[in-house]
Amino acid sequence: MLKLFDIDKLEVGMFVESIAKQVDSMKIKSRGRITSQKVIDQLKKQGIKQVVVDLSKRLESDKPEPEVLKPKKDKSISFDAEINTAAKIYETGKRVQKDMFEQVAKNLTIDLSVPSEFTTSLVSSIHRNPDALMCMSKIREKDSYLLEHSLNVAILLANFSHQLGLEDHQVQELALSGFLHDIGKINIPDKILHKPGRLTDEEMVIMRKHVQFGTDVLLDMEIPSSIIRTIGEHHERLDGLGYPEQRKGAEISTFGRMIAIADTYDAITATRCYKAGMPSKKALQILLKDSPVKYDKELVLQFVKSVGIYPVGTLVKLDNEKLAMVMQQHQVESNKPKIKVFYSVKGSHYLAPLDVDLAAPTCRLNIVEAVTASDYKIDFNKYFKESIAIT
Ligand SMILES: [Fe+2]
Repeated sequence: MLKLFDIDKLEVGMFVESIAKQVDSMKIKSRGRITSQKVIDQLKKQGIKQVVVDLSKRLESDKPEPEVLKPKKDKSISFDAEINTAAKIYETGKRVQKDMFEQVAKNLTIDLSVPSEFTTSLVSSIHRNPDALMCMSKIREKDSYLLEHSLNVAILLANFSHQLGLEDHQVQELALSGFLHDIGKINIPDKILHKPGRLTDEEMVIMRKHVQFGTDVLLDMEIPSSIIRTIGEHHERLDGLGYPEQRKGAEISTFGRMIAIADTYDAITATRCYKAGMPSKKALQILLKDSPVKYDKELVLQFVKSVGIYPVGTLVKLDNEKLAMVMQQHQVESNKPKIKVFYSVKGSHYLAPLDVDLAAPTCRLNIVEAVTASDYKIDFNKYFKESIAIT
């Protein structure tokens, strides 16, 4: 049941569906629960006068939720201006990740300042223009899953929490949690870790130990307990069928729910030696299908928004039999992003990259579907680095 409320009548726990009246046109995230008086004060400060509240959505008091309803921060610089920095950050991230794995393997204690400083630079890039690092996370190497996965989860979480409007220290904390979340995998034997295909029950028991191994390593690093909790929960599921502690529902923190979503999304979209990565849209459909049973539905919906139907870096097939890469999402019409056309399917050859705005009134092209590079047996990563973005 929807009801109009003056901002002075708004209470903590109410679920706001939309902004009804505000003094200026600043873009405010319009849906979400009022989690504290601070949120109400911020809305007042932002000139909100009236909101539409959904009275049927009672507050589930045992369920922690992130604060939403904050203004979406604008991109301070363009994609083109950020992409080279993002590419360097991405390479640094893989190097830091590799060094950490080697240190853990040798039983050395990791100096926390190294991953902390790295995730600070990652978060700064997301603040300047999230599309650049999100794009880099799509240009992945087939054999670098172990190094790239944690880096990608850090990027996804920084982007997710940034789009949710969380405080800067929370964005930083989530990015660091993502970056460190699978550190325990270094203690899993290679034949299990890199096994092409399904693990046996016994192998799965060993594989699942990576969570405990990881949190043990982090305890030695004297890392904040909230980060250890988030990492310890990245394989827990709301139905209690996750691991290692089979936590259920409200026992799993908001950040634990968020990392589970980002971790699953990256695992599904990754290309491994034994499987091609699924397109983003398919991964988002799987997450939606498994919520609210396994994943927090409201958070999954917010995650879908943060990634978009055709995330920057997605390969798409056009109705003129050409392939293109999504370069910039359209704010309103998500199926009409700016793209770079680079490959002819009919002729099986690369083309000189051509920028096209699908939303331009004169443009007659349309996206048919999202595809993966392996569908067309093209080495897109190499082509991307050499010809499209990295100069
Ligand atoms: Fe994991």
